[in-house]
Amino acid sequence: MKILVLGSGAREHAIITALLAETDAHDIVAAPGNAGIAQSVPVVAIDANDPEAVTSYSEDNDIELVVIGPEAPLVAGVADALRARAIPVFGPGKQAAALEGSKSFAKRIMTDADVPTGRADRAATLAEAEAILDAFGSPYVVKADGLAAGKGVLVTPSRDAAVEHAKHWLAHGSVLIEEFLDGPEVSLFFVSDGHTVLPLSPAQDYKRLADGDLGPNTGGMGAYSPLPWLSEQFGSEKAFVDEVIETIALPTVRQLAAEGTPFIGLLYCGLILTDAGIRVIEFNARFGDPETQVVLPRLVSPLSTLLLAASVGTLSEQPAPAFSDDVAVTIVVASENYPETPVIGRPLGGLEEAEEVPGVHIAHAATQVSDGRLVSSGGRVLSVVATGTSFAQARTRAYEAIEMITLEGSQHRTDIAAKVVTS
Ligand code: AMP
Ligand code: GLY
Repeated sequence: MKILVLGSGAREHAIITALLAETDAHDIVAAPGNAGIAQSVPVVAIDANDPEAVTSYSEDNDIELVVIGPEAPLVAGVADALRARAIPVFGPGKQAAALEGSKSFAKRIMTDADVPTGRADRAATLAEAEAILDAFGSPYVVKADGLAAGKGVLVTPSRDAAVEHAKHWLAHGSVLIEEFLDGPEVSLFFVSDGHTVLPLSPAQDYKRLADGDLGPNTGGMGAYSPLPWLSEQFGSEKAFVDEVIETIALPTVRQLAAEGTPFIGLLYCGLILTDAGIRVIEFNARFGDPETQVVLPRLVSPLSTLLLAASVGTLSEQPAPAFSDDVAVTIVVASENYPETPVIGRPLGGLEEAEEVPGVHIAHAATQVSDGRLVSSGGRVLSVVATGTSFAQARTRAYEAIEMITLEGSQHRTDIAAKVVTS
């Protein structure tokens, strides 16, 4: 199949790696890609956020499936433009993507679909924000309403910090103040054709920068899959997944279909398992990063079949995706001063040696070739992924590989998946 993958992160590298692993019969091209992706497939310099550019390229090159990685092209209406010209596309239209792009739209859909989530109120002025903060009490949860690249959410016991954060984001629009939810977090992905949903395997993301879940929120510093503790809590992973399908994924997809904006693409359910039950903390309208890097290496079913079936509305004819018993761990290598002001343009070394560790591969995020050298070009630079038969093995492999990688000033967490290692 001729497939165009839009995006330039480790998530897109993982998607391309999974597509290439299925068969060597696919003809894959990425736009704009990165230096690692360019080692695997051709990259083209079209603007992934420009609906006309993507549509013309796809028509001119007989693309049979477009897979949209990041949220920006979705919000820009790239999927709508492709669908209008009958080009199969995995990714929701602009309106359904507001599930991610607008937190207040997501809350409204959840309310109408009776999907369990935390209480939240929207504030348009600082006085309103302060009144809502005081009504909810500490710890405070303040969220920018629009897309904020992972930087819009603050969870803090400090009222002053909460007010400061609200003030900052009110300058860009409204803010949402939410009830604090306590419990472990799960990222669960569903492939959706607008009516039918099929679950992928659960993963857990580490959002905070530093070990012990300290430091600022980031785009994600590591992940692992599956989550062995779900079976202890719910009897089995399947029981948990079935509950999320019934109470969250299907009602949400049905609500969007009923409103004439079917969700065709990847429904990312960000969940907190509270004592009172499963609650949605956020929806995303695309694969999660870095969770994709641990979910897709475990997928046994062909990814292209699933994505195409979702795009053309035939998901109900597909079996549930199958996953290997192997586990996967990923650790993100980030630049000095990420997430505030990442230092970029520094040389990277040791990647080939690192990939010689059994079970290890590297998904590139922000890399580019400059003067013939591989250099960092953003905050999250690489995702080192290791699979294994146990978390002890996968973790050892991943950290062994990380030790071989050189990037001046780089940061990574040392506790990814430590809690699921059994001796
Ligand atoms: P979000 O961008 O909405 O996923 O939020 C980023 C992170 O902030 C989440 O992964 C949680 O760790 C935390 N968070 C968001 N909302 C809440 C909440 N209502 N209660 C507790 N933690 C939250
Ligand atoms: N890992 C969090 C996200 O993709 O939004």
